[in-house]
Amino acid sequence: MQNMSSLSSSIADLRKSYERAELSESASHTDPLQQFDQWLQEALRAQVPEPNAMTVATVGGDMRPSTRIVLIKGYDERGIVWYTNYDSRKGRELAGNPFAALQFHWVELERVVRIEGRVEQVSAEESDAYYNSRPLDSRIGAWASPQSQVISSRSVLVTNAAKYGAQFLLNPPRPPHWGGFRLMPDRWEFWQGRKSRLHDRLCYRLEDGVWLRERLAP
Ligand SMILES: Cc1cc2nc3c(=O)[nH]c(=O)nc-3n(C[C@H](O)[C@H](O)[C@H](O)COP(=O)(O)O)c2cc1C
Repeated sequence: MQNMSSLSSSIADLRKSYERAELSESASHTDPLQQFDQWLQEALRAQVPEPNAMTVATVGGDMRPSTRIVLIKGYDERGIVWYTNYDSRKGRELAGNPFAALQFHWVELERVVRIEGRVEQVSAEESDAYYNSRPLDSRIGAWASPQSQVISSRSVLVTNAAKYGAQFLLNPPRPPHWGGFRLMPDRWEFWQGRKSRLHDRLCYRLEDGVWLRERLAP
């Protein structure tokens, strides 16, 4: 086994050249939602691992940022949707500061998408519809896990799951503390790795209701 110092020096030597594709102004969409749709479809077709996983960054009342991974569950001109526990750390941070940033990294495609904007809870009807589409154990899990809270042991979860399973049988209602968030983008960035670290970065920002597309230096 390598010791820590030799491991970290070999990590410093890791280098990869990004040469798969390019992202040009002429070949990209003027609407960032269409660009995102194209790249997500390509990630799905390429069967990259967890193409729907994205990092969500929030900022707490103490001004400290935090991140975690969630699954995208929908996207359209209204924004990007994911589901979670509203009482979780991210839920509480969003209640205090509704701005968030999302990031997808599709390693095999040498692509990153960054999205920023304001976040709102989706409607109760939308959350109900998605909740009711989930497998039963996931629906019970939403009741059983006080997400982000300290618990004394794993058995708390197992006991809770058994309790709520017995209580609700096959039809658990959506917990009031569980539902969707929608981020309404006002800034997108599409990053395509290129040779010699001269990567392509196209940034879209909303100005007076119009998407401006600009190239950023890598
Ligand atoms: C691939 C993957 C997908 C995940 N999807 C979700 C999700 O959709 N919703 C969710 O609440 N947590 C999801 N998680 C767990 C979160 O990363 C995180 O542990 C949890 O939401 C608590 O975060 P918080 O304490 O910062 O609020 C996922 C984790 C992974 C690795």
